[in-house]
Amino acid sequence: MRNPHLIWQPMKVLIVFTHPNPNSFNHALLESISEGLKQAGHEVKIKDLYQEKFDPILKAEDLAQLQQGITPEKIAKEQDQLLWADSLIFIYPLWWFDRPAMLKGWFDIVLTNGLAFEYSSEGVKGLLKHKKALVIITAGGSEQYFKDNDALQLIHRPVTDGTLSFCGINDVSHQIHYDIASLSDADRQEILKQTRQTGIDF
Ligand SMILES: Cc1cc2nc3c(=O)[nH]c(=O)nc-3n(C[C@H](O)[C@H](O)[C@H](O)COP(=O)(O)O)c2cc1C
Repeated sequence: MRNPHLIWQPMKVLIVFTHPNPNSFNHALLESISEGLKQAGHEVKIKDLYQEKFDPILKAEDLAQLQQGITPEKIAKEQDQLLWADSLIFIYPLWWFDRPAMLKGWFDIVLTNGLAFEYSSEGVKGLLKHKKALVIITAGGSEQYFKDNDALQLIHRPVTDGTLSFCGINDVSHQIHYDIASLSDADRQEILKQTRQTGIDF
């Protein structure tokens, strides 16, 4: 629910979507949240990593240039998209307790030293100024499984803590949808409805 004491302002929201199948439940989540965001008046850009055939490999020559303080043009182009936004949303399926490799590669390439973080005498400092980030994850396992195996932190740590908070975004939240394969149609519709509302309330 939106805080009535805050003045509402439209945001520029970049949704980074990572799933190979446009008919997936993940894609339905993407559509629902985009609709909600647009209904609320936000400007939305979707970065669909599979659809654009994003190359997730940080190449030796690119890393060498970065280490000399030069940003290769293709990396600068990606960073422009990141910096266009004042808020970020990530939607992806949990693969091996982590993000898909495609998304991991996007982080490797985009979140460079000097743009996303810097080293100072007080340690590492995050530099991203995005107002907030939301991470939406689907998982095959049940919530009980993750609790019993002390695995919940494995889901959060790589992206919410280890990447987004690390790079300076203070307001990072996440939603996890468990047991995806066993959901009924009614469950799916309910999640999509809630996700649309998340977009409206963002
Ligand atoms: C390569 C791969 C790795 C996976 N690893 C996990 C995992 O570690 N934990 C888990 O709960 N589900 C795992 N799954 C299941 C996916 O999370 C699940 O299929 C997905 O969230 C379903 O979303 P969709 O219907 O949009 O494809 C994995 C699936 C694949 C294909």
